[in-house]
Amino acid sequence: MNPNHIYQVRICTGTLCHVMGGALLPELKPYLPEYLKGKVQVKGMTCADYCKQEDRKPPYVLVDDHLIESASIEKVIAYIKKCENHDSKQ
Ligand code: FES
Repeated sequence: MNPNHIYQVRICTGTLCHVMGGALLPELKPYLPEYLKGKVQVKGMTCADYCKQEDRKPPYVLVDDHLIESASIEKVIAYIKKCENHDSKQ
């Protein structure tokens, strides 16, 4: 991945995701490690109907095109770190 890549974090703002913990997710930025702070953009997104799929659990977050279910601040940051580590090994 391009070293200037900006991770697009989209947090579902639909009701189900919001009440299942998504309300806390926009507070993500201060929890990012210093080296990731300039590489992450956080936005909201409207319900994309992931919540209609019974085998999945809200809240939902998209990081670029990767869907994270049962999303938490820790899970989102762990995923971005994993992408970064994977990149640095290439
Ligand atoms: S409320 Fe989040 S996917 Fe539907």
